[in-house]
Amino acid sequence: MKNARLFSTLAASLTAALALGVTLWPQSGPAFGQPTKDIKAPASKEKNLYERLGGVDAIALVVDDFVNNLAANPVINGNAAVKTALGKVSVPGLKFKLIAQISDASGGPYKYFGRTMKEAHTGMKITEKEWDETVKLLKGSLDKFHVPSKEQSDLIGAIAPMHDDIVGH
Ligand code: HEM
Repeated sequence: MKNARLFSTLAASLTAALALGVTLWPQSGPAFGQPTKDIKAPASKEKNLYERLGGVDAIALVVDDFVNNLAANPVINGNAAVKTALGKVSVPGLKFKLIAQISDASGGPYKYFGRTMKEAHTGMKITEKEWDETVKLLKGSLDKFHVPSKEQSDLIGAIAPMHDDIVGH
């Protein structure tokens, strides 16, 4: 009985809606599941830092140059523990991880998969002077490949928070 009343209420509402011109199914337009033309594409977003840096190829050029210079630098090699670690590490592997890390930190598609910064740098007692030298070397490589100053400071800004996990452990 209750169901019959509910049904007749629904039927009445449906009849009223149809009378008002409400259509139950699109009469024209794209097939179900197809994109409609009248849905506007989202306004083009500002480029993220990864894109502004030039993507993975540009990042790889910078990292390659930076790590080569880091491994040959007298201030960096003045720290015996760093020198030993750099002598043992796979340099191409270190470059690969850094490329992924910079991609990750700048909004790119490649995610960092290496150790945490604390894990990777503990035991070497990296000093402020060595940190500053490293940032200087990174800047030098960014300059070499004509990365604009805005992108340089955005990238260094993305790396700066890692300082406390890298220095002094
Ligand atoms: C500027 C910020 C820095 C970043 C973003 C960075 C990033 C990294 C990354 C991603 C790794 C590889 C981690 C892994 O193998 O899982 C690594 C390893 C290493 N980093 Fe750094 N690093 C920075 C600063 C420094 C500094 C200042 C030094 C030395 C003065 C240094 C020396 C090393 C060494 C020697 C390794 C190899 C450690 C090992 O495998 O035993 N890094 N770093």
